Amino acid sequence: MAPPSSDNTPADPRAFLSETLRSIQRSGLVRHLRNIQGAPEPRVTLDGRSVLLLCSNNYLGLATDERVKRAAREALDTYGAGATGSRLISGNLDPYRQLEQELAVFKGTAASLVFSSGYQANVGTIAALVEAGDAIFSDALNHASLIEGARLSRADIQVYRHRDTEDLESKLRSRAAARRKLILTESVFSMDGDLAPLEEIVLLGKKYGALVMVDEAHATGVFGDTGAGLVEALRLQQKVDIQMGTFSKAVGSLGGYIAGSRELISYLIHRARSFVFTTGLPPAVVAASSEALRIVRQEPERRQALWRNVAQLRQGIERMGYSLGPTESQILPILLYDDRQTMAACRYLLRQGLFVQGIRPPTVPAGTARLRLSPMATHTERDIEEALSAFAELQSLLQSPRRFDSKRLPSLAKTI
Ligand SMILES: Cc1ncc(COP(=O)(O)O)c(C=O)c1O
Repeated sequence: MAPPSSDNTPADPRAFLSETLRSIQRSGLVRHLRNIQGAPEPRVTLDGRSVLLLCSNNYLGLATDERVKRAAREALDTYGAGATGSRLISGNLDPYRQLEQELAVFKGTAASLVFSSGYQANVGTIAALVEAGDAIFSDALNHASLIEGARLSRADIQVYRHRDTEDLESKLRSRAAARRKLILTESVFSMDGDLAPLEEIVLLGKKYGALVMVDEAHATGVFGDTGAGLVEALRLQQKVDIQMGTFSKAVGSLGGYIAGSRELISYLIHRARSFVFTTGLPPAVVAASSEALRIVRQEPERRQALWRNVAQLRQGIERMGYSLGPTESQILPILLYDDRQTMAACRYLLRQGLFVQGIRPPTVPAGTARLRLSPMATHTERDIEEALSAFAELQSLLQSPRRFDSKRLPSLAKTI
């Protein structure tokens, strides 16, 4: 921080901005917004160039489905562009009722509540359920929105080792005296693609009198007979207290939700501040989610197509000797570990016409930088083959470090 000058003029209050940005630059963690032209189809135009999209959460291709777009257009014509009020005042337009009823049936619960985003659903729900004097038990790799909700609640936060139910149990035992207890986990972990041991977690919740909240952001649409998620696949609908999810990924739209008992939903309507103090979603978005949910349930062939693409991509990548970690889902992280190398690889692939995103700290722990691949149901076999040949070229460069100079690649990126 710059010291005050000798004539007592206060130090520049904006100095921290440039100081922080310089430090980000020095640590090699600068982030850029990429400009994508057009819809999230398997192939997109990025900065004026056609590339294969392999890092979208549009897992089932529903964001661009004609029926989903038509439902959104019709709601736009009927209800206008915005809800223009919080849901408890004037923003609870008709499409919400239909979506929440359908969602409860889909999730096998008595009721559901839609929030404006998944982030808001997590933050508002957790902060409403527990407070100072209570205890939260949170998986070490949980998403930022679960962490933020936990911090906001002011409950005692116990972080247990990733997917480690022994550690979870020892923490539950050590906080047995806490008033309310809440276990938080994702079902499909967003950056590693591995799965939470939900059956054991549910048993521990019961044994220690803790509520269990499961974030199904990346499982919804992908796991389960009707695509309702890993909770459905494991037949745990009646045992998980709070099923959270989002319409922003496989459902291809926007908005978060909580599914559970009528009492839970009624409580959240009164107590979840991120629900109460924000404007309702645009009706076109709510109608798009309803239509997309119907397709998720009625067209299992989309899930099958996604899993076929995942298998083809995964087998090809593993055959080349890349490390994918313990993923069991559609999220395939190629671990390259080093931040600069990861971003250089990302730029190299872009030059080859493949758009994958490099993921670095703070999104993932230090030393675990990766390329996070997520194929879509709408990719063709040829698309996946094309991606695999780019990864084969990258692999031969990575194996001859003199040819793969991560410092030189940034300038190459400018030629794209
Ligand atoms: C596991 C997880 N939970 C919650 C969210 C937040 O969802 P949304 O993007 O709808 O705000 C995300 C998305 O980034 C996520 O990956």
